[in-house]
Amino acid sequence: MKLATLVMTVAVCAAALRAEDKVVGGPYVVSQGARSATIGWVVQTGDVKVGMTRSIPVLRAEKVSMTGLKPGEKVEYTTPNGLKGSFIAAPAAPASFSGVVFGDTRTRHDLHRKIMEAIGKLSPDFLIHTGDLVTDGKDVEQWPRFFEIEGPVLKKTVFYPALGNHERNCRYFYDFFDIDTPYYSFDWGGAHFTVLNTDLGNVALSAKAREEFWTEQERWLEDDLEKAQKAEFRFVITHHPPFTAVKRRQGGNARVTAMVPLFEKYNVTAVFSGHDHNYQHHVKNGVHYVVTGGGGAPLYAVDGPIEGLTVKVESTEHYVRMMGEPGKVKMEAVALDGRVLETFEVVKK
Ligand SMILES: [Fe+2]
Repeated sequence: MKLATLVMTVAVCAAALRAEDKVVGGPYVVSQGARSATIGWVVQTGDVKVGMTRSIPVLRAEKVSMTGLKPGEKVEYTTPNGLKGSFIAAPAAPASFSGVVFGDTRTRHDLHRKIMEAIGKLSPDFLIHTGDLVTDGKDVEQWPRFFEIEGPVLKKTVFYPALGNHERNCRYFYDFFDIDTPYYSFDWGGAHFTVLNTDLGNVALSAKAREEFWTEQERWLEDDLEKAQKAEFRFVITHHPPFTAVKRRQGGNARVTAMVPLFEKYNVTAVFSGHDHNYQHHVKNGVHYVVTGGGGAPLYAVDGPIEGLTVKVESTEHYVRMMGEPGKVKMEAVALDGRVLETFEVVKK
C-alpha cells in the first residue's frame, strides 16, 4: 500500500484513570469508517467478591472516537495510561491492502495464541473476526483473556468482529467494540464489507421480535449491497455459514442459506463465515463461500463435501489472508504450521 508519509500522533483524552484501575484490554481500533475511527481499551476498576474465594472483575470500556482521518495515512496514538498503538486509515479508492479473516477463537487458548502470533507476523491492515470470540460472552471473566491473547495484534490494526452465538448477544460485545447495531458495513479501498448478525436465537426473547429483526436486517442488507454496486468487490461476513461440509450440521442455517439468492443478485464476491471449526471453500453461481472457523475452537470433521459446490475442505487451525490490489484480491488459507491450504483469486468483474 502506498502510504501517506504523514504520521499523526493522537493524544487521547478520556476520563481520568484511578490508581486502582488496571488495563485488561487494548488498545484497539474499531468502527473505522470514512475518515473516522474509535480507539478503545478496557480497564478493570475493581472486583466483586463472591463468597469466600471468588472475585469477579468489574470492567469498563473506554472509547474515543476521532474524525478527520486522511485515507491511507498511518496514525499513531497514545492513551492517557501510556498505551501506544497505531493503525492505517482505510484507503478511499482501490489500493493495495492486506487483511486477515479468522474466527472461532474460543476455548483452546493455546491454539488461539499461536494463531495470533502467526497473524501478527503479517502486520495486516485490518482483522475480520467471523464470531465466537469467547466461549461465553456474558462471562465477564473471559474477556480479559481474549484481549490478552489478541492484544499484540489489535494494537497495530483495525478490528471488525461479527457476532457469534457464543457471544450470547452480550452487552460487552457492543460496548467494547463500539457497535450500535449488530450488523454494519465498511469500505476498504475498492472493497465493500458487510457484517451481519446471524445469531437469530439470541436476538430477542419472542419469536415475533426475532422475525422482525431478521426482516429488518435483510432489508438493510439489500439496501447496503445495492448501494455498493460500484465497489470493486463485495464481501459479506456471517457467523453461520450458508453451506457446510460438516454433515451433522448441514441444513442447520436455513435462514442464512435463504440469503444466497440475494448474494447472487447483488454480485457478492465472497461470503466469509465461521461457526464450523475448520476450513471450507465452496463456489455456487460464481459466489465464493469460505468457512474460516479455525482460530482455536475444537475442530470439526469435514465429512460431507457438497457435490458440485465444494472446492476445498480441511479440518485444521488456520486463518485466511486477503491480499488486495486494484482490480483483484488474492485469498490464501494458511494452517497453523505455515502450510498453505489453498489460494484463489477474485478479480473485478
Ligand atoms: Fe458458533
